[in-house]
Order: sequence, then C-alpha cells, then structure tokens
Amino acid sequence: MEYGTRHLYHFLAQTKAVTTVPGLEMALEKGRVCVTGAGGYLASWVVKLLLSNGYFVHGTVREPRDEKNAHLYKLDKASESLKLFKADLLDYDSLYSAIVGCKGVFHVASPVPSTTVPNPEASMLKFRYIVEVLEPAVKGTLNVLKACHEAKVKRVAFVSSVSAVCMNPKWPKGKVMDETCWSDKDYCRTTKNWYCLSKTEAESEALEFAKRTGLDVVTICPTTVLGPLLQSTVNASSLILIKLLTGCLWTLSRHELNCIRVCIHVLLCGRGLAEFLMSLRFDENKVRQIVDVRDVAEALLLAYEMPEAEGRYICTAHSIRARDLVDKLKSIYPDYDYPKSFTEGEEEAMLSSEKLHRLGWSYRPFEETLIDSVEIYRKAGILN
Ligand SMILES: NC(=O)c1ccc[n+]([C@@H]2O[C@H](COP(=O)([O-])OP(=O)(O)OC[C@H]3O[C@@H](n4cnc5c(N)ncnc54)[C@H](OP(=O)(O)O)[C@@H]3O)[C@@H](O)[C@H]2O)c1
Repeated sequence: MEYGTRHLYHFLAQTKAVTTVPGLEMALEKGRVCVTGAGGYLASWVVKLLLSNGYFVHGTVREPRDEKNAHLYKLDKASESLKLFKADLLDYDSLYSAIVGCKGVFHVASPVPSTTVPNPEASMLKFRYIVEVLEPAVKGTLNVLKACHEAKVKRVAFVSSVSAVCMNPKWPKGKVMDETCWSDKDYCRTTKNWYCLSKTEAESEALEFAKRTGLDVVTICPTTVLGPLLQSTVNASSLILIKLLTGCLWTLSRHELNCIRVCIHVLLCGRGLAEFLMSLRFDENKVRQIVDVRDVAEALLLAYEMPEAEGRYICTAHSIRARDLVDKLKSIYPDYDYPKSFTEGEEEAMLSSEKLHRLGWSYRPFEETLIDSVEIYRKAGILN
C-alpha cells in the first residue's frame, strides 16, 4: 500500500504536480519517521531520501546548532518537513521526545571509530573504547527500541553491519555467508575488535528485544560504505578511499587530531612509530566489499516500506582488491599519489545480498560511486 503511494508520489513529482498543488503534497505525506544520528554520513542520505519521498522527518543530533549538521537544513523540503531534536543515545528521555508521534524509526546512530585506529590494548584505552563505542551502540540501541515500543512505533529499520556477520574464524574459507551467520562475540573480544563486538551485540540484542516485545525490527548489514558526502566532515569509511587517493593520512587536516591520538595509541601499545607510519604508505591488498551510501539508504527505505520485509539483510554490491581499486581509480584520475606497494591481505569472507535483491533492491555501477565520491572530495578541497 505504502510502496504504491511512493510510486504515485514519484509519478506526481515527475509531472511536477506536487510543486504546483500544495494541498496534494500534504495529502500524500507518508507520515512521521525518526532518523537517529541524522547528521552522520549514511543518515544524511537517509534523511534526504525520506524527505524526497514525502515523509516528515524527526532527526536526532547531539548538537543541533553545530556547523557539522548545517547541511541538513539545506536539503530539499527540509524547511517544511524536517525537525531536528537534540538527543544522545545514552539519554532515554531525549530519544523518546524525538520518537513519540512517529510511525517508523530508522536507527542509524552508532559510534564508528576511524578504521586507521589500532584496537587498543592498554587497559585504560580499552576501558575508553568500551565506554565510547560499546555502551552507546548497545545500551543506546536498547534505549531507542524501548522508546519505540513505548511510543507504539510500527517498524524500526536498524543499521547493523557485516561486522556482526562475518567475524568467525571457524567459517570455511570460500563458503558464502548469508543472514544466518553471526560474528563470534568471544573472537571479537579476544581480538579486541570492539567495533565488531559493538555491532554484533547491538544487533543481536535488537532482534532479541523484537522477539520479546513484538516490536517489528528489520536490520540492514552493509559492507564498507562509500559514495558522496552530504556533510562537511569526513567519516571513517570515506577515509579508506581518501587515503588511497592521497597516499598518506597527514594530508587530511580534519583528522590531524585523530592522527595524534593514533600515534599515542601506537606508542602506548609498544608498536614502533616508524613501523606504523610506514604502514600508512603501504596498503593491504585485501578484498574490500563495497556498497554505495545511496544504495544503503534505498535498502533501508525498502526494508521499512515493504510489508514482507523481516529479519536481517546483508547489503553489499562490489567486491574488489585494493590493488585493483587503485588501478581503477588511476584509469579515471591518473594524477593522485596512490600507494605504490601492497602487503598481501587476508582473505575476506564472501557475502550474499540475495535476500535483499528478492525484496527488490538493486545497486548502481561502481564507477558511479567512485566518480561521485572523488568529485565531492575535490569540490570540498579534501584532496588538496
Ligand atoms: N560507513 C560504513 O562503512 C558502515 C558500514 C556498515 C555499517 N555502518 C553503520 O552505519 C551507521 C552510520 O555510520 P556512518 O558511516 O554514517 O558513520 P558516521 O558518519 O560517523 O555516523 C555515526 C552517527 O552516530 C552518531 N552517534 C555516535 N555516538 C552517538 C551517541 N552517543 N549519541 C547520539 N548519536 C551518536 C554520530 O553523531 P555525532 O555526529 O554527534 O558524532 C553520527 O551522527 C552506523 O550504525 C555504522 O555502524 C557503517
């Protein structure tokens, strides 16, 4: 029913009827939905997509007046259909205020540490990671779900990650993983992979909560997300591509502080600073599974709107080795300072998005993702 309305809306938007008959636009409004962490990389695209599909959006951000959320106010239809709420994942009441009155919730917010930060081993740093990554991800998700249950939300589309799917050393090499696969929490703990642990715990707790309470929760598990930025800051996964284009991290002025933190981590962990800095110049030639940020937003909308959607959905599109990715980039943009050497990387898990395709999902060509990303980085001066 809603999906049909979406097509009608698209049709009317194409014929420009919605811009000339204001009352009709109101009549076609899909209702209120909430997006957590609205100013983040993926969430900004989710907000944009929802606004363009006729939803009224409640976006939660930690600092509504912060410059890093300014792009949200500039989105099409934001002035009439977007309301920002100040909320922290660890503050239940702030979440409830944003969620109450909404028919659906897109829970996107979760701490995403930079992929270049080595996992801390010193106990103080480990403690900080637990407080800064695990708690907001797991307790924060439960707070969001409790608020959804309390506010009688119809469906929650929750962003998990393949980090909750594929960290399993016992999985046979070469065997394709699907939605029945879960990362091994003990393995995440012993390998100090706190981000993977945070996503695995958050998603499993979310699905348990859904079973216990009857709340309708669907989860999307994306691989590495790339594609153009809407926000003015650089997120962790975009850094992967930026690092390939610039060859080293210290060209990224926004992340100078982060770099300093990384170096302190490295020194505290007893690993040689020189060795670490060298590793910035050499890239691991591992297979990366990549999906466009706009396609992930589409997957979330599909999972939210399709009545038959249920459970988990792996969301991945392209599989490519770092060396091949550099070759592809070089063929389009020959003049960047690409890594010259690669160390051999471990084989990555193979993943299938078959279930999501059956729901009607498709993805754009990889070249489009690369070109649209690089053009935005150039415009923003990130590559200078
Ligand atoms: N990018 C990827 O490759 C990838 C792949 C798989 C899954 N994911 C998942 O996709 C989601 C979005 O990630 P992203 O790539 O868009 O990263 P991002 O830009 O860093 O977005 C993370 C968002 O979470 C918010 N957040 C973090 N801690 C919070 C807290 N305690 N209270 C309220 N908000 C908090 C951040 O708010 P502030 O702006 O205030 O910090 C930010 O808006 C995450 O759930 C992530 O695990 C991402």
